Amino acid sequence: MSVFVDYAQFYDVLYQEKNYEAECDSLEQIFSRYAKGTIMSILDLGCGTGGHVIPLTRRGYRVTGVDLSEEMLSKAQIKSNAACQSLDKPTFQRGDIRNLALNKTFDAVVSMFAVIGYLTTNDDLQAALRVARKHLQSGGLFIFDVWHGPAVLTERPMDRYKIIEADGERIVRFVHPELDILHHTVDVQYRILRLKDDLVLDEVSEVHTMRFFFPQEIVFHLECAGFRALHLSPFLHLEESLNERDWNLAVVAEAC
Ligand SMILES: C[S@@+](CC[C@H](N)C(=O)[O-])C[C@H]1O[C@@H](n2cnc3c(N)ncnc32)[C@H](O)[C@@H]1O
Repeated sequence: MSVFVDYAQFYDVLYQEKNYEAECDSLEQIFSRYAKGTIMSILDLGCGTGGHVIPLTRRGYRVTGVDLSEEMLSKAQIKSNAACQSLDKPTFQRGDIRNLALNKTFDAVVSMFAVIGYLTTNDDLQAALRVARKHLQSGGLFIFDVWHGPAVLTERPMDRYKIIEADGERIVRFVHPELDILHHTVDVQYRILRLKDDLVLDEVSEVHTMRFFFPQEIVFHLECAGFRALHLSPFLHLEESLNERDWNLAVVAEAC
């Protein structure tokens, strides 16, 4: 089943509190700590609506964003046209991160907000890691975040909902997760209603199957794809050690 089709129209509203600038600060902190040279060019795998591409471009990087969803990319393009007028514009391209071949390399590859978690089989995961490796020179950095298995199994995904008021309308999102321990996945069922007063204007349902990962599994998969894991920590907290309450795991790897 396709994801980020109808969901795309609600994406920026639903994640309006996500602090992309702080996440780009964290990326820059990683660059300054682990990069062998100056990072100038960045490939964003699964760039979505450009949440990182646009601030990184504004900070002076040459950024290429790739995503499978035309709907997400078209939002990214519109936002980038407005936000990056006098700057070098980022490049957006539709593609599948399991078989992308841009035939060039970048100083860093990033894949943010659990994009790698959408690769639920080992074959797909390896394919995407090899794509990341192919777009880096030896010594280049690959940075991503995923759901951290120990936290998923400790806290357990739960039913939840979120209500957002926007432009006189109300967006209500219900989430119903189903955990599959054998496959390390959660089927996240999203149901979104757009309401005006008591009237339902729009209704969208999508199931996103998300994989969660254990640290040693990540290290192993990275090594199989030609990387060396440099750093694993709670997302946005590079100095801290991981524990079973950290749902988001940040990974820094170096191309061998
Ligand atoms: C949770 S969103 C994250 C978007 C963006 N990185 C952010 O931080 O806002 C996951 C994105 O991954 C993309 N994606 C999932 N699987 C993909 C694949 N195989 N190839 C390319 N993009 C993919 C989706 O279309 C979606 O835009």
